Amino acid sequence: MSLSLDVNPLREGLTRERAVDPCIFVIFGGTGDLAHRKLLPALYRLHRSDLLPRGFAIVSYANESLTDESYRETVRGSIAAAGSYLPTTGSDWDTFAEHIYFVSRGENNNSGLLDLKNRLAELDPRIGTEGNYLFYFAIPPAAFASAARDLGYVGLAKDQSGHGWRRLVVEKPFGTDLESARELNRVLLSSFSEDQIYRIDHYLGKETVQNILVFRFANEFVEPLLNARYVDSVQITVAESIGIESRGAFYDRTGALRDIVQNHVLQILSLVCMEPPVSLDADAVRDEKMKVFAGIRKMEPHQVEDYTVRGQYTGGMLLGEKARSYREERDVDPDSTTETFIAAKFYVDNWRWAGVPFYVRTGKRLAKRVTEIGIQLKTVPKILFGESHRDEITPNVIALNIQPDEGISMIFQAKVPGLDYRIQPVKMDFAYESAFGESAPDAYERLLMDAMLGDAGLFSRADSLEATWEVVQPILDGWRIKNTSAYPYLPGSWGPRESSDLIRRDGRGWRRL
Ligand code: BG6
Repeated sequence: MSLSLDVNPLREGLTRERAVDPCIFVIFGGTGDLAHRKLLPALYRLHRSDLLPRGFAIVSYANESLTDESYRETVRGSIAAAGSYLPTTGSDWDTFAEHIYFVSRGENNNSGLLDLKNRLAELDPRIGTEGNYLFYFAIPPAAFASAARDLGYVGLAKDQSGHGWRRLVVEKPFGTDLESARELNRVLLSSFSEDQIYRIDHYLGKETVQNILVFRFANEFVEPLLNARYVDSVQITVAESIGIESRGAFYDRTGALRDIVQNHVLQILSLVCMEPPVSLDADAVRDEKMKVFAGIRKMEPHQVEDYTVRGQYTGGMLLGEKARSYREERDVDPDSTTETFIAAKFYVDNWRWAGVPFYVRTGKRLAKRVTEIGIQLKTVPKILFGESHRDEITPNVIALNIQPDEGISMIFQAKVPGLDYRIQPVKMDFAYESAFGESAPDAYERLLMDAMLGDAGLFSRADSLEATWEVVQPILDGWRIKNTSAYPYLPGSWGPRESSDLIRRDGRGWRRL
C-alpha cells in the first residue's frame, strides 16, 4: 500500500541563504582513502553546484612527494574510478582542479609543517581567502593529537591577525575508550577552542537521519505517541552486507561496538529519544542529546552477558561464492576475538522513556545492507473483536528507513473485506525517492558545507562525545572481566542465534528486514 503525497517537488538541497566565506580547505592525509573516496568527490560536487566560494583552495598535506600537477592527476583518477559519474574532463573539472594544491610532509614533520605554513601564507593573499583555514584530519586516529599539537605549535591554530577563522574537523573514531577520548579532547582543546572543533559522525549528515527531528517535531500526530505510555520497544538496526574489506588492521583493534555503536547508533538513539530543543541552534540540540546520553543506564559487569551479544562471522557461501571467515581476513589475528556483530539492550532512564527497551544490532557480512529504526507501539486491549480474532491484532510499528530505501513506513490494522471482522496488518509507505524525485546530497557534502559555514549542529561536542564513551566503557570493561566470547555466525545471516535469544527472553523478536 503506498501513500499519495501532496508535496512540493522542489527540494532545497544544499542551497543556503548563508554563503561560505572564502577559505582554504586543508586535508591532512590527502592521499588516503577517505580523502579520495569521500572528501574530494564531495568538494567537487559542491563546486559543480556552485556552492563553494570564489576565493577557495584545497591544500592536501601528506607523506608522499608529489607536485600539484601529479596530485591533481591522482584525484582525477580516483574520481573517475569511483564510478560516481562525475566528469573528469571539461571546464567543470579544469576549474576544480586548478583549486587543488599539494604539500609534502616529507621525512621531517617540522619542515613539512613549515612548508605547509608558507604555502598557505603564499596562497592566502593570492586567492583572497582572508586567513580562513579549515583543517581536516583524514589521518589515522593515532596521529590526531600530535597533528593538533603541531598546528598549535606552528601558530596555525589561530589567525595571528585576529581576522580569519581557523577550524578543525576530526574524523572518527574519536578515542578508543573513555580515557583516550578524554585525553584527545584535552589535547585538542589545548590548541583549539571548542567552537573551532568539529567532531564528525557522517551518519548525522544523512538526510534521513536529519529527518528524524522533522518527523518528530513537525508532525502533531507523532510526538504525543513517543513515550513510555505508548511505545513498547524500539529497535535500531545498522546492518552491513560487506565484510571488513581492506581495513583488517584497524578493525581488529576496534570491533563493532566502537566502530558503530559508540557513534552512529547512539547518535540515532539520541535523536529518537531527545526532548524538543528550544531552537535548532547547535548548542540547543546538543544540550538535549547530552541529556539522553546521560540518561542511558550504564551496565554493570555482571549484566553484560544478559544485555549484550558479541558475534564474529565465520566462512561460508555468500551469493554462490566462498566467503572467508573474519579470522582469515588480511591483517586480522588468526585467533582474534574481536566482534564483527553486536546486539545490545539499552534503557534510557528518564521520565519519557522509563522502562522502554532499546534493542540495537549492528554487524558486518549480514543478510543485507539496511539501517532502520523500528518503533513498536503497545498493543490495544484485545477485547473488542472477539476471541477468534485476538491473535490477528499485531502492534503498530513506525519504521524509519534510514538506508538504502529511504522513507518511513507505518504498520496498522485494517479490516479484511468481507462479512466478518477479520483483521490484518497493512503497511503505509512513504518513499523519499518517489516523493521528492531527486537523490539526497551525500552526507559528506552536507557536513563539509556545514563546517565551512561554521554550523556545528551536526557535529559532536566534547561533553556529549565523552558521554557516549561513558555508555560504552562499562560494556568494554564487562566483556574484559567476563572474558565474553564472540559467537560465530554465518555470512549472509542476521548474526548469531544468541542475538535472537537476547530479545526473545523479553517476549519479543527482531524485526524482519
Ligand atoms: C563507518 C565505519 O563509520 O561507517 C564502517 O567505520 C562502516 O565500518 C561505515 O562500514 C558505514 O557507513 P554507511 O554510510 O555505509 O552506512
